[in-house]
Amino acid sequence: MIDLCCRNVDASVIGQENGLELETEFAAYKDIIAGIIASLNQRKDKPGQWLQWMNLGYNEETIWYVKEYASMVKDRFENILVLGIGGSALGGIALTEALLKPYWNILSDEQREGLPRIFFLDNIDPDTMTGLLSFLDLKKTLVNVITKSGSTAETMSQFMIVKDLLEKELGDNYRYNVVATTDKRTGILRQIAEQEGYKTFVVPDDVGGRFSVFSAVGLLPLALVGIDIDSIVNGIKDMDLALKNTDINENIAAQNALIHFLMDTKKGKNLSVMMPYSSRLKYVSDWYAQLWAESLGKNKDIDGNNVNIGPTPIKALGVTDQHSQIQLYNEGPNNKIINFIRVKEFDNTLDIPNIFEYTGLNYLGGKTMNQLLNAEADSTRVALADYGRPTVTITLPKVDGYNVAQLLYMFEVQTAIAGELYKINTFNQPGVEQAKNYTYALMGRAGYEDSAQTLKEKMGTV
Ligand code: PA5
Repeated sequence: MIDLCCRNVDASVIGQENGLELETEFAAYKDIIAGIIASLNQRKDKPGQWLQWMNLGYNEETIWYVKEYASMVKDRFENILVLGIGGSALGGIALTEALLKPYWNILSDEQREGLPRIFFLDNIDPDTMTGLLSFLDLKKTLVNVITKSGSTAETMSQFMIVKDLLEKELGDNYRYNVVATTDKRTGILRQIAEQEGYKTFVVPDDVGGRFSVFSAVGLLPLALVGIDIDSIVNGIKDMDLALKNTDINENIAAQNALIHFLMDTKKGKNLSVMMPYSSRLKYVSDWYAQLWAESLGKNKDIDGNNVNIGPTPIKALGVTDQHSQIQLYNEGPNNKIINFIRVKEFDNTLDIPNIFEYTGLNYLGGKTMNQLLNAEADSTRVALADYGRPTVTITLPKVDGYNVAQLLYMFEVQTAIAGELYKINTFNQPGVEQAKNYTYALMGRAGYEDSAQTLKEKMGTV
């Protein structure tokens, strides 16, 4: 199991001004936290609560279909191309980066054991998209278009380009190179999929984009490149069981949620840095940034009061960002809490040869890169504490499907608990919808004419 160490947020370590009296705070919030956890678990099956993501690890049917489809198409494609954005892409990116062999797409077929390469297009830059499409052999590519709403302009415009190219190359048979993941009933993509006869997977009701990683949204791309879905599912289930514990002293998601909430509201530290000490976990920070930002950044609380609250997530990578951001974290404004993610056992041990004995480098020779990486994590954490800067450390026994699934599921529960503490709606995103609607208006979508006019006036000339 993964674990959380909160020692370096305690006042006894980083001082009264910046630290929390953890034991006292955990005792003070014991009942509130127990109530939140019980309530989330009671409400999770009710329609309209947007808590169905808590059931995804138990959705045997979807898990079966995902595995079955992946094994059916196994030898047919050399590439998987995922089209999606935000919650429809970030989970898949984070998990494939963590779980596939590093540099997957440039490995030989043999090194990939015949499994396909995978590309995520989660932006609409005409240069990168042209670049990708110019070398991808679409005839040998399975396109997984993912959009819950079925109408997101970025994803649908990408799909229009790709579908057109595919059809030109393959004629009517192009449909066998498309698999759509979208809402069960509604949305333009659902309509197109039915008309064109695509294989489809469902984004379940009451699962928001940023909580959809363990639905077909995230699982299908993983299965298509041969990642073991069962270990992921086991990780979610074990973590779910652990996080059903209503005792804050036993529940790491509740602890980290409360720590972040109190650091923000009592100590003015509303920036949350996510800093894995593992390159394979780099994109977990991107996924977390969306989860934390979109869920908790709200202008109204659940009673309709204007609050304009929300901690700001920051993405960082250990050790790389020690040489870029740590100066600021140590000596700049003390307004952050830093989440270290540390890996106990790497898949490989990389020895540093003792080749420059006569120089000052002999302290490195004979050690391993593994030792150096974790020594740097520990020394940075301690240095931050010396400066009175709070950190928590999450330790993963290994970077594998079981543990990374636990990590992501823990962050989802942590986010839901934090949302309850802030008393906001964690699961809506009116601020994203607003910009989406403006884009529709600017691009001339029917029904958005009035907003287009107002928008043009507001925009001025750029
Ligand atoms: O978390 C969310 O709801 C958003 O980030 C969406 O995932 C994103 O806007 C993409 O939406 P859709 O899946 O409808 O294309």
